[in-house]
Amino acid sequence: MKKRYLLAPGPTPVPEHVSLEMAQPMLHHRTPQFSKIFAEAAEGAKYLYQTKEDVLILACTGTGGMEGCITNLFSAGDTVLVINGGKFGERWGKISEAYGLTVVWHKVEWGQAADPKEIKSLLDNNKDIKGILVQASETSTTAAHPIEELSKLTRDRDDIILVVDAITGLGVFNLPMDEWGIDAMITGSQKALELPPGLALVGLSAKAWNFADKSTCPHFYFDFKKERKNLADQTSAYTPAVSLVIGLRTVLKDIREEGLENVFKRHNRLARATRAGTKAMGLKAVAPDSPADSVTGVFVPEGIDGGKLVKSLRDDFGVTLAGGQDDWKGKVVRIAHLGYVDTFDVIIALSALELALKKFGADVEFGKGVAAAQEILLEAY
Ligand SMILES: Cc1ncc(COP(=O)(O)O)c(C=O)c1O
Repeated sequence: MKKRYLLAPGPTPVPEHVSLEMAQPMLHHRTPQFSKIFAEAAEGAKYLYQTKEDVLILACTGTGGMEGCITNLFSAGDTVLVINGGKFGERWGKISEAYGLTVVWHKVEWGQAADPKEIKSLLDNNKDIKGILVQASETSTTAAHPIEELSKLTRDRDDIILVVDAITGLGVFNLPMDEWGIDAMITGSQKALELPPGLALVGLSAKAWNFADKSTCPHFYFDFKKERKNLADQTSAYTPAVSLVIGLRTVLKDIREEGLENVFKRHNRLARATRAGTKAMGLKAVAPDSPADSVTGVFVPEGIDGGKLVKSLRDDFGVTLAGGQDDWKGKVVRIAHLGYVDTFDVIIALSALELALKKFGADVEFGKGVAAAQEILLEAY
């Protein structure tokens, strides 16, 4: 038997008490009993989003929430600015093009964050842009984009919206939807929400709902207006993911009890420890200037195949980390620290990485990364 440790940026581990909640006998969804659960989950989501607006709960993964934002908020021929700093930024553009939107691609070097000054000048030079599509945390490169700064470019205009994929950002660091004026924000259940995959949450501002009134993109399953109408009746348009919604209610209750500020501190502490640990091991960060608190990426030492390293970590040591994608395939390893992850998960990840690197012949001194992380972890207790 091998004990397994899941430390990839989604799916993330599910707490035992949440799994047990979800294992209750199945409920019918059109019952007062389930309606209460659904309504409580939707209320809890408002706290997570720091919004007074409705947050839709959809039965799909995060990408479904992204697609729903495109098809409900825009029309074919609309121009959108896509901040393409990684795989998920690219996905915004691909979805937009699939529905006939005109995409202004803004390439950001992998590992870097978008520069708000450059975005401002793009907007100044193209008054047709109706939406900025961006990631709060670009999981593929482990960089965080400056959402607060970007929101300043859109919030005082009624002809443009800011659409944020916060799938590995929400519940990790501060993204106050109403205060900053974020218009649409998406998350997925299998990240900081500590649930299995299968739910997307979408929060929409009043301005976004105005955009929804004008949108002519074809859509059927993801019909935000229909979902909002149903949400007012404490239900969803189609069969909800009953067990996941039950789990969601529990997780959101836990988050509220802990307090968002503490949730952010908890993630930041683990992120700083992981960064310090990998640095002490001599590994170069892939997003040194704007690292997200959800996941840390480092380049593997020259001459080592990162793909084989990640495979060995998983198969030999039982520790699932993530590798790099596209140009970074085989060159990068990513350690996630979001959701139901704690002090000793960081220690496990770093010590397993030391072991695996040593096995692959890297010049690693045992314990150095772990010790550097411990300094941070102790300081914050
Ligand atoms: C930033 C980001 N956007 C989008 C997605 C896609 O989400 P899903 O796989 O749930 O469709 C992910 C998943 O890892 C992500 O990290």
